[in-house]
Amino acid sequence: MNIEHLKNKFYEYYGEKDNILCFFSPGRVNLIGEHIDYNGGYVFPGALTLGIYAVIRYRSDDIVNLKSLNAKETVTFKLDDIEYKKEDGWGNYPKGVIKYLLRDYSLKGCDILYFGDLPDGAGLSSSAAIEVLTAYMMLYPILKHDIDRVELSLMCQKVENNFIKVNCGIMDQFSVAMGKKNNAILLDCNTLKYEYVPFELKNYSLVIMNTNKKRELADSKYNERRTECEKSLEIIKNYKKVSNLCEAKIDDVYNCIKDETLIKRARHVISENERVVKAVEVLNKGDILSFGKLMNGSHKSLKEDYEVTGLHLDTIVEAAQNAKGCIGARMTGAGFGGCAIAIVESEYIEEFKDIVANHYKNKTGISPSFYTSVIGDGVKFLG
Ligand code: GLA
Repeated sequence: MNIEHLKNKFYEYYGEKDNILCFFSPGRVNLIGEHIDYNGGYVFPGALTLGIYAVIRYRSDDIVNLKSLNAKETVTFKLDDIEYKKEDGWGNYPKGVIKYLLRDYSLKGCDILYFGDLPDGAGLSSSAAIEVLTAYMMLYPILKHDIDRVELSLMCQKVENNFIKVNCGIMDQFSVAMGKKNNAILLDCNTLKYEYVPFELKNYSLVIMNTNKKRELADSKYNERRTECEKSLEIIKNYKKVSNLCEAKIDDVYNCIKDETLIKRARHVISENERVVKAVEVLNKGDILSFGKLMNGSHKSLKEDYEVTGLHLDTIVEAAQNAKGCIGARMTGAGFGGCAIAIVESEYIEEFKDIVANHYKNKTGISPSFYTSVIGDGVKFLG
């Protein structure tokens, strides 16, 4: 995105040229460790170079105006009157963030123009991106470089849980706030301890495959999975002292749980958490082939045990896994549509995209999209 272009657009909309600042917040991709963040285990995401840009002008009154180049509606409100309104659509994310920030900071109004090159509804965390971006921009004049990015991500997660009412874990907001170029983040979701791991793929590339199937039932099924995990944990706790499902062992699951569905859910969580640890181990040794195999294992577990894939994700992942040059593929994010990722030998990428697109289109009638994004930085000031 050309910043000057966005600033000119801001001028067209708001008639102001001076004192405007531009910021960027990335989307994220989770490399492995799915449906683990709310079970206290390890996830391994990275920030993308795709994301959301915004230009802001701070006002001296208490009015906030929000516009986006990606949407028609304008959202306007006063700082002392912020409520969730269905008709405000995407505007509810910035509204929630500003409402929560006002609990700790005295803020003035502002005019904001957003633009995203991140497909929404694709499971690449456009909602975390707009939350973290808004929070960072609002705090920037007050705190500049002292913004605590971990605190920021925790606050944005609260907005998502309590204002938007999606019961997500911490992974998305954390990766978007803490991303680092060419590094994935190994995050322990129980303690929030984290480590940057260089994501170097030598002659391979990370390909993001968008099924272009909007995520369906994602919120209700997501909450259903969370409840199933909580139930499994409660049962295990009757026999053993564990504080989250990732602390349990697979034998605890077989010994304590009788319900077939709960066994499958817990088995996914425990095995996936182990896969993350192994994935980082092999990546650190430069063993990308083993990393790819773990990705395939992750998808199988999400399909058969956690049951969050469905026709579109399974079709695209299977096509990818069978394509020449691909050493591993899996769905990424919450599931039920959205995106999958693959690791592909760089010289075969064009051929790979053709084969996967043909196979996927024949079976589903939908054309997929591909992004060969690299891992980028977290939220930042651009100028
Ligand atoms: C969504 C949620 C995250 C995480 C993933 C699944 O992206 O927002 O917190 O649970 O699903 O790994």
